[in-house]
Amino acid sequence: MPAFDVTVVGELNLDLILYGLPQDLEPERELLAGGLSLTLGSSSAIFAHNLATLGTRVGFISRIGEDPLGQIALDRLAAGGVDVSRVRKVSGQTSTGLTVILPRAKFRNILTYPGTMNEMCFEDLDLDYLTSARHFHMSSFFLHRGLRPRMVELFKKLKASGVSISLDTNDDPADEWDSNLNAVLRFVDVFLPNDREAKKIARTDDLPTAIGRLAQLVPVVAVKLGPEGALARCGREELRSPAVKVDSVDPVGAGDSFDAGFIHQYVRGGDHATSLAFGNLIGALSTTRPGGTEAFRDRKHLDEFLNHHWTLPGPEKPGAAGGSLKA
Ligand SMILES: Nc1ncnc2c1ncn2[C@@H]1O[C@H](COP(=O)(O)OP(=O)(O)O)[C@@H](O)[C@H]1O
Ligand SMILES: [Mg+2]
Repeated sequence: MPAFDVTVVGELNLDLILYGLPQDLEPERELLAGGLSLTLGSSSAIFAHNLATLGTRVGFISRIGEDPLGQIALDRLAAGGVDVSRVRKVSGQTSTGLTVILPRAKFRNILTYPGTMNEMCFEDLDLDYLTSARHFHMSSFFLHRGLRPRMVELFKKLKASGVSISLDTNDDPADEWDSNLNAVLRFVDVFLPNDREAKKIARTDDLPTAIGRLAQLVPVVAVKLGPEGALARCGREELRSPAVKVDSVDPVGAGDSFDAGFIHQYVRGGDHATSLAFGNLIGALSTTRPGGTEAFRDRKHLDEFLNHHWTLPGPEKPGAAGGSLKA
């Protein structure tokens, strides 16, 4: 039996979220926030953390600095049940990254100091560890600049070892959507962009055209549509799943949580409709608390939410395969 269900290579840092700021950030004024949250951030870590809390065995590789913020992030990830034994702590000039999120009424600003995430390189990765799983996931493709020169090689090697692979690129800060991505997508089994990313990558403004193009490269394309839910294209099969109605307070991490829900079912052999519905449910759960992992750290909240919304096929506990949304 593999040591893990899913291994992840990615960035690990905290999110500092300042709530209740004025709409305009006037220069030179002291602007007061109404609330603050220092929480586990970074797409890869949120994905890994939330997936582990669902009952999937997750191993994580990253590079962090020898600084207090890196240690807090590492502790948070481990507390979620993720194996962090291969996270490398590197001393030097560069510290662990940090993302500052400023949510406002209609949009949010996201400011990231990449730190060590830019420096993680192929030599930081233990390939035996990564392939001791059934499945490999990567988030934030464009942020891993140190890995980029050998990214295609990495995906090729992982695929050749027999693991299935999922990818969520997230945004490209350079807004270039490098064509190198197409070479990587050939090795990907499940691609998980949001609506905007799908269109950027496929170089079209039309979502159905984008999905059609991506589906020629990847067997399963699941596109996140925020409060509209999500849709998936698996070869010629097209599926749509509306969002689950919840009291949303914060969209931070919803996309990564969707990925966790989708992959939780996928690695258990769940069909595409089940994976999509569970992805939607877990994305919705994420929005019920501030930050990307708070809804999952509260075990009682997580269990009650799943019991309320999800019917299991048998008498199993949450975390088992299959099931469906309750009407
Ligand atoms: N307001 C909401 N209500 C319910 N579910 C939501 C809401 N916002 C997001 N979600 C869920 O989270 C998923 C991911 O959200 P989205 O914002 O599209 O991703 P990303 O964070 O990658 O941009 C959606 O597909 C949906 O399932
Ligand atoms: Mg996303």
